[in-house]
Amino acid sequence: MPVIQTLPFNLQQSTLTAFDNVSERYYEFDENWGSDIDFVRNAFSEKFPQLLSCIDLGCAAGRHLVALASHVKNVSELLGIDYSENMINSAQRFVTRNRLNDLIWFKQCSIESVDSVFQNQKFNIAICLNNTLGNLLEFDENPSESYRLSILRSIKSILSKEGQFVVSVYNIDEFNPNIYSRYLTISHEMSDFTTGDIVIYHTYPDGEKHYCYSHWFSVNEIKNLLTMAGFVLESIELRKKRILIRAGLAEVVNGTLRRKLY
Ligand SMILES: C[S@@+](CC[C@H](N)C(=O)[O-])C[C@H]1O[C@@H](n2cnc3c(N)ncnc32)[C@H](O)[C@@H]1O
Repeated sequence: MPVIQTLPFNLQQSTLTAFDNVSERYYEFDENWGSDIDFVRNAFSEKFPQLLSCIDLGCAAGRHLVALASHVKNVSELLGIDYSENMINSAQRFVTRNRLNDLIWFKQCSIESVDSVFQNQKFNIAICLNNTLGNLLEFDENPSESYRLSILRSIKSILSKEGQFVVSVYNIDEFNPNIYSRYLTISHEMSDFTTGDIVIYHTYPDGEKHYCYSHWFSVNEIKNLLTMAGFVLESIELRKKRILIRAGLAEVVNGTLRRKLY
């Protein structure tokens, strides 16, 4: 899909700027926020009796972490990472208001760098919700499946052996190209509805537009990607436009990956 070569700006940088600019109001217009906490909670309750650590990849303003802190008993540490400085600042303020600084902390870094940033640390649970995975885009490159796959592999590398990955992405079968909201407009010229590569823009009061990239997935596509990355799918649910998946790590037996379930 030649979207990026044809753009007069860098789409990765523009996507980051778009998130930076919505950090204060993000949850006001995210209709999905909080609706999947029950699904995430299962990762905590089903697997582990002991205290758990959890990393939220693309945590935005920290709402999921705060909700988890109050809904999950067996949690020892909650860490949020996001590449947007404004999102991290907004998250930090939210956590302070909720007096949860002892439990929740943040780091501004990219999801692409987690394997090096956390090379000496393992988490029991990693969450990556509301299509953050679909925002990943290589600097100055066209969207690619191999890029997403390499990042899923590095996410796997920061999980403990019995770790769980909870991911929700947007379902291309539920995509409506004519959708228009008060805040978001789809760029028909820059989007490719067949590959699922969508560019939307936010228009600001001064008339400036910030373009934001997201890839929408088919169910098979995200299942295959996770499997290729070495995850075993343990639970999958379709909720409105979201595909929710909980996955564990595939066991390596005699040098080959063994699938346990699904
Ligand atoms: C679609 S929002 C989802 C936010 C949150 N996970 C939720 O469920 O509401 C994507 C978030 O991930 C962040 N993000 C996108 N790409 C990223 C990357 N490559 N590295 C780190 N954060 C990223 C954005 O700044 C934004 O806060």
